[in-house]
Amino acid sequence: MSTLRRPGRSEPGPRKAQRRGPDPSPQGGTDWDQRYRQGAHKWRQPDPFLLAAYREFIAPGRSRPRRALDVAGGVGRHALWLARRGWQVTLADASKVGLAEARRRALKASVKLELIQRDLRRSMLPRGRYDLVLVFFFLERRLFPALARALKPGGILLYKTYTRPQLKLGTTGPRDPRFLLKKGELRRAFPSLQVLSYRELVGEKAVAELVARKV
Ligand SMILES: C[S@@+](CC[C@H](N)C(=O)[O-])C[C@H]1O[C@@H](n2cnc3c(N)ncnc32)[C@H](O)[C@@H]1O
Repeated sequence: MSTLRRPGRSEPGPRKAQRRGPDPSPQGGTDWDQRYRQGAHKWRQPDPFLLAAYREFIAPGRSRPRRALDVAGGVGRHALWLARRGWQVTLADASKVGLAEARRRALKASVKLELIQRDLRRSMLPRGRYDLVLVFFFLERRLFPALARALKPGGILLYKTYTRPQLKLGTTGPRDPRFLLKKGELRRAFPSLQVLSYRELVGEKAVAELVARKV
């Protein structure tokens, strides 16, 4: 059964979002279906930030495999990496095509993933359910409070996405500044969480990386 709910009548925040009419976001589902069909973004290797943060902040305290949510997880490179290490992973994404590829990869790797097709601008995340929440290269600010609430006490949020200087660097990443983080924005985005590590980098990509814990 799906662990992510669509908003109900008593949940006013996301319903407001539903009434806005056409959404200006270039991030949504069908556009991504198209991109995945064209072979774009079918990344296989986990992002180095996941590997480093896992080593430093997650593996040391871990006594048994636990529950993780990969938000807008695409074709599943991070979900699969965690599932291979015994994590029970839910991958939520709007793209049917991306999820189909994640399913194919999971079958091939003989690991189980819970795959949920959702537009995350319009979905409720369960509260207090996850030991680890990942967000890589996806920015939906309205989801920030729900990401923090979805963590169990002691749970960790890993968040990495593009920042404004990416515009000057080249062709990858969103071209619309609304979908790029401002300076210091990600560090301030989760006031209820304890920041364990934060940095902004400009290299091949311009990104911010956050590790934060629910105390
Ligand atoms: C750049 S890809 C990143 C995929 C994955 N996080 C990774 O790093 O490999 C962005 C992902 O966000 C998903 N996405 C975009 N808008 C979405 C929305 N409104 N709800 C859910 N997923 C969305 C796309 O389908 C796509 O898989």
